[in-house]
Amino acid sequence: MGVYGSDRGQGEGQLLADRQAEIEAAASALRAGGLVILPTETVYGLGADAANPTAVAAIFEAKGRPRFNPLIAHVADLETAERIADFDQRARDLAREFWPGPLTIVAPIKDASAVCDLARAGLDTVAIRVPRHPISRAVLAAFGGAVVAPSANRSGRPSPTTYADAVSETGDKAAAALDGGPCAVGLESTVVSVLDGQARLLRPGAVTRVQLQQIVGPLAEADDDAKRSPGRLALHYAPDAPVRINAKAPEPGEAFLAFGGGASGEGVFNLSPTGDLAEAAANLFSYLRAADRTHPSAIAVAPIPQEGLGEAINDRLRRAAGFIG
Ligand code: TXA
Ligand code: MG
Repeated sequence: MGVYGSDRGQGEGQLLADRQAEIEAAASALRAGGLVILPTETVYGLGADAANPTAVAAIFEAKGRPRFNPLIAHVADLETAERIADFDQRARDLAREFWPGPLTIVAPIKDASAVCDLARAGLDTVAIRVPRHPISRAVLAAFGGAVVAPSANRSGRPSPTTYADAVSETGDKAAAALDGGPCAVGLESTVVSVLDGQARLLRPGAVTRVQLQQIVGPLAEADDDAKRSPGRLALHYAPDAPVRINAKAPEPGEAFLAFGGGASGEGVFNLSPTGDLAEAAANLFSYLRAADRTHPSAIAVAPIPQEGLGEAINDRLRRAAGFIG
């Protein structure tokens, strides 16, 4: 596909050859129970050995997570995923279509020692994904097992989409940190559960509802499963300033995240001057942070169309604004 990669420009092979020592050092740090800041195509993650409960506990501690939410297990390929989780045909179809890439599949756990109880928050299911970013894939291949990685922000803050933001959030807790450049997607992965023959959308993300439906047909409504998916709690992704959504224009003292042409000036951050949702998604979290640094009375955000990637962007914005989605 190439659309989600950050492998444009420099060839992937050369990139990995240049970074081999760092990649191996990160894999060793994971084996030793350390935390590693990993670039993915969605957002930067704070990774740990999924099989090591002490290492996994250190993630919750580093993020200041108020309670133990289940984490996403990242693996190098579908074969490794199928050793850990029970995939039915639909799960496999989704994986074949969207992996490596920004889709997380929740399926019954098969090898409970590969992703420890704490990482799964005691559930008998596991969330699993094969990221596309060449550096995270290389680390996963060198490590061999599953790496659980929530976004590398401290709990409740916007996910980091640049190396500098990741290091400033949790770098002091990490044994290694890999710079993979700015994240191409900029929003967390789509989370879909495939349980009892039914596919449910638990968290909208880079892979859109329509793209999922093209592979598995109509999606079941997310009810109880969604409540168990704590990424869907309100007041997630929040900057320090209050966020006011669907704003036509900023009030005095407010920063403004614009969308589409026209708006400019001090305190105005245009998510996409051309009205491109993929560009807006990639800019969302870093612009929330940039707006926050101007210490505004609030961050006003222009209306974003609720189509395609707009569903995921609006989901994150409603949470940043403190509305229950
Ligand atoms: O793009 C991403 O997904 C990033 C990068 C680093 O891969 N990771 C990320 O992780 O966003 P985190 O921890 O912020 O979000 C994990 C989401 C949460 O909504 C969590 O509730 C859900 O996955 N989840 C994990 N395990 C689950 C399970 N067994 N059942 C239902 N939801 C689960
Ligand atoms: Mg997160």
